[in-house]
Amino acid sequence: INSISVQQQLTGKKILITAGPTYEAIDPVRFIGNHSTGKMGFAIAEDVAKRGADVILVTGPTSLKAEHKNIKTIAVTSAEEMYTQAVSFFNTVDAAILSAAVADYKPTQPAQQKIKKSDDSFNLELTKTRDILADLGKMKENGQLLIGFALETNNEIENAKIKLKKKNLDFIILNSLNDKGAGFKTDTNKITIIDKDEKIEEYDLKSKAEVAHDIVNKVISIIHG
Ligand code: CTP
Ligand code: CA
Repeated sequence: INSISVQQQLTGKKILITAGPTYEAIDPVRFIGNHSTGKMGFAIAEDVAKRGADVILVTGPTSLKAEHKNIKTIAVTSAEEMYTQAVSFFNTVDAAILSAAVADYKPTQPAQQKIKKSDDSFNLELTKTRDILADLGKMKENGQLLIGFALETNNEIENAKIKLKKKNLDFIILNSLNDKGAGFKTDTNKITIIDKDEKIEEYDLKSKAEVAHDIVNKVISIIHG
């Protein structure tokens, strides 16, 4: 890595990134969402762009704006929309880093009109969304890199290893909600990277920009052998 200038480490490479939450409509005024801000994914997008890559950033609803001119932002709302965009770009990229907090379930039949309150309890039927990362893992060709996140609260390493294998990833970035300063709504993060040889690397608590830099260093070390 050191022999190439930072601005050229990823020159000529195209990288797909997903970021942010997804919103799953319940009716025209309500949705199921989560606390993701998109900060981690946007930080990764800026870092890979600074190192010369062209970036396709598929993002769920967020207040963030990408700064680097080599980042093409595609704004989506639902898991289904994110799936369609990610799949359509995947065969054009050298690597994909999926950091979005995608809803696992969506309302089976969103109401066309605002739902009025009536009874004391209300049941909403949900249907599983498609797993974008797992499907890209099935589409992955030789030479393409696929990287995912795992958000865990217990049996962290074991659960992350299962996701790594099941989704056919090159490495997985584990975020533990037990770590102070990690996860949603913070400007810092603490990660552990597990690669496909099951090598485990623990990183210190850092700013999300620095964490992004560590993640991209790992990508570059694989690309450049
Ligand atoms: N992911 C995805 N599409 C989904 C669900 C998850 O692309 N429908 C991706 C996330 O972007 C992340 C990885 O899969 O990179 C793991 O997400 P996580 O929620 O930790 O794991 P799941 O596989 O959804 O399993 P669970 O939530 O049950 O732990
Ligand atoms: Ca999930």
